[in-house]
Formats: sequence, structure tokens, C-alpha cells
Amino acid sequence: MKILLLGSGGREHALAWKIAQSPKCSKLFIAPGNAGTSNVGENVAIAVNDFDALKDFAVDKAIDMVVVGPEDPLVRGVYDAFKSDSRTASIPVIGPSKQGAVLEGSKDFAKGFMKRHNIPTAAYETFDGTTVEEGIRFLETLQPPYVLKADGLAAGKGVLIVPTLDEAKKEFREMLGGMFGNASAKVVIEEFLSGIECSVFVLTDGKHYQILPEAKDYKRIGEHDTGLNTGGMGSVSPVPFADKEWMQKVEDRIIRPTVDGLAEEGIDYKGFIFFGLINVKGEPMVIEYNCRMGDPETETVMLRLKSDIVDLFEGVANGNLDKHPVEVDPRAAVCVMLVSGGYPQAYKKGYPISGIDKVEDSIVFHSGTATKDGQIVTNGGRVIAVSSYGRNKEEALKKSFQEAQKIQFEGKYFRSDIGQDL
Ligand code: AMP
Ligand code: GLY
Repeated sequence: MKILLLGSGGREHALAWKIAQSPKCSKLFIAPGNAGTSNVGENVAIAVNDFDALKDFAVDKAIDMVVVGPEDPLVRGVYDAFKSDSRTASIPVIGPSKQGAVLEGSKDFAKGFMKRHNIPTAAYETFDGTTVEEGIRFLETLQPPYVLKADGLAAGKGVLIVPTLDEAKKEFREMLGGMFGNASAKVVIEEFLSGIECSVFVLTDGKHYQILPEAKDYKRIGEHDTGLNTGGMGSVSPVPFADKEWMQKVEDRIIRPTVDGLAEEGIDYKGFIFFGLINVKGEPMVIEYNCRMGDPETETVMLRLKSDIVDLFEGVANGNLDKHPVEVDPRAAVCVMLVSGGYPQAYKKGYPISGIDKVEDSIVFHSGTATKDGQIVTNGGRVIAVSSYGRNKEEALKKSFQEAQKIQFEGKYFRSDIGQDL
């Protein structure tokens, strides 16, 4: 099978690494990929949102399957673009339709969907430019801290958690005034939930689903969850509190109602669903949906997925995913992200990276890297994910931290407390 994977981050390198291991994959292309993906497949210089060029490429190379990594092309309708073109309509696309991607593309839609299907989530209301005063009055009914969410995609920055009512009112007005452009033309205000977060992933063919290993992500830049939010500084799988009993609640109350709800509402969804959950006094609740895998969760989840991922994708494409079981590696997996100095604020790109070839006990996934004059250089805020297996997370973390020391680039920073809170 010839497979085309879209994206260029650590998530895509981990997906590419896993896809390339499948005996069913004869050729893997990654568009556009990064310096790491070129070790497991062939990079193609096409942007993820250039649907016409992607379709032409798929026709030209007789691609048998397209796998979509990031949310942006999904929310813009890459699935629909392939399906509506007679040349590419029969190529399975792993990823939801534009309508399905709205689960991630609109927080208001996601909240309404959960309400319609009785899926546990924080109480909320949505406001826009015509209901500012109602929003202010709603804020006055809530307890601090206040959670304000831009309705649309805002590159992971659209959620504000504000300690005081005065600040919340000010930020709310500014959001509606265009703080995140059109993405905050509508704002969801919701109840604050207190607990530990956990990312749960499923693959669905629209009717059946298979649950993948769960993971915990570390979002803040600073040790002990301090400082600004990032795309993710590391991840750990498994998550100790996500035991059999808790996962059964997740499946019964959240996963099954979501997959059934999508089908009931006639939404075409064949791909990953990422449930951003929070454990509130032992009860799972949904913080958010994403229509793709998580990054850096994928950099641990792929290590623990023993099944052939292409076989699972075939189940998605053929609508018989129930016949394609997921087998999980019992070992722990962790990922430590090496980032550019200054990230998540301003940082420089283009610094040479050395020492990757010295890494022995970890798997190196490239996140923001590029090749310049034959040298691998930094090309993003999150640069390299150092992923490791261990009999437990402590053993895996020891390997990742040890191997992280071997990789050098100017301004390198990583969190040395990944996994310690669990
Ligand atoms: P989201 O983009 O919806 O995942 O929100 C980003 C982060 O904000 C989440 O990962 C949580 O850490 C936090 N967050 C979002 N909603 C809530 C909530 N209702 N209560 C507490 N924390 C929240
Ligand atoms: N790690 C969180 C995300 O991918 O959105």
C-alpha cells in the first residue's frame, strides 16, 4: 500500500515511524514532513492545506491511503476535498469530514454536542457581540477562577483561565473585540473543573471504535506546571489513575455516546478522536475534543501500540474496525520534549543540532527540525521529542533524560519533572 501522511511535527514523525513498520506499507510519503520523517519515508514539498496539489500528487503516485496528522487541514475540509473529486473519491482518508472536525473547530458546537448526548462536561454558555451584557451577568454567577474559550481554532492559545471577576470581564470583552480574530467572535464561558487531565484516543470507522493507550501531557513551560502554556513539553503512558474501572466509565459515558452521537447526527467521521479528559473526584469529564492525535502524546502512544497501525486504518476505511483489535505493549513509555530557548515566546531558528546519532536507548522523533546544507537545524519551538520505553515510567524517564543530554543545540531547554506528579 502506498500511503501519504500529512503534517510536519513530532506527532507525524511518530505516526510515520509506526506506519513504516507495517508490512502492509510499501511506500510512505510525508507532506511536507521534517528532517526526521525523511528517515522513514519520502518527504514531499506540499503544504497540508494545498488540497489541489495533494490530490494531484495522490493521483500521480497512485496513493492508496491518506492519513491526516494535524487539525488545520481537517477543519478546512481535506477529507471532503478528496471525496468530492472523482479522481480521489475512492482513496480512504483517515480523518473526519469537515463537519466532523467541527468537534475541534468550534468549542460551542462541541459543548452543544455533549449537552445533546448527555456527555459529562463543565456547565457553560456561549456569547457573541450581541450578548456581551448577558455574558457579564453569567460571569457574575460563577465562582473563580473563570474559564473563557475562543470558539474557533486559535493555535492552542484560545483558552484563558482568569483568577478574578474583574479580569474575567475585561478579557471577555477583549476576546469578543477580536483578541483571537474571528476565532473569538463567539466565546464559551464555562465552569472551572479541578482535577488531573488525561488524554484518551480512539480510532473510529463511524460505527465501531478501538481505544488506544491513554497518555498525560505536560502543557506548561516551567517545572511543576508553572509559566506559559506550550504545545506540550512531554508525555507519559500509561496514566496510573486511568485504571480499568475509570476507563470503563470513560467508555460508557463518553466514548460510546460520542461515536453514537456522531452517527445519529449524520456526521461522517472516520479517524481519530482525542478526548481531553479531566478526573474530577474519580469521575471523568470532557474538557475538549480534538479531531486528531495529540502532540506530544503520539510520541508515547505509538510506542505502546503493538498492533499494526495500517491494519487498524484498513478497519477504519472498510467499516469493520471491530475485527481489528488493538494490542497494547505493557511497558511504560515517556517523551521529553527539547525546545528552543525563549519558547513559547519569541525564539530563533536555524541552530545546528548535534548528537542525535549518539542516542542509543531512546527513540528520537523530530518535531521542529529542517535540513540546511546537509546539517539538521532547529526549525520550531518544539524541536525534538526523546521517547523511551521502560518497565515503569521511572526507568523510561531515566533513559529519556540521559539521552536528552547527548543532543545539543543552542538554547536547548526541557522540563526535568515530566511524570513526577503521577
Ligand atoms: P482546551 O484548549 O479546551 O484543552 O483548554 C486548554 C487547557 O485549559 C486544558 O488543557 C485545561 O488545562 C484548561 N481548561 C480548559 N477548560 C477547563 C475547565 N473547564 N476547567 C479547568 N481547566 C480547564
Ligand atoms: N497535546 C495536546 C494537543 O495535541 O492538543
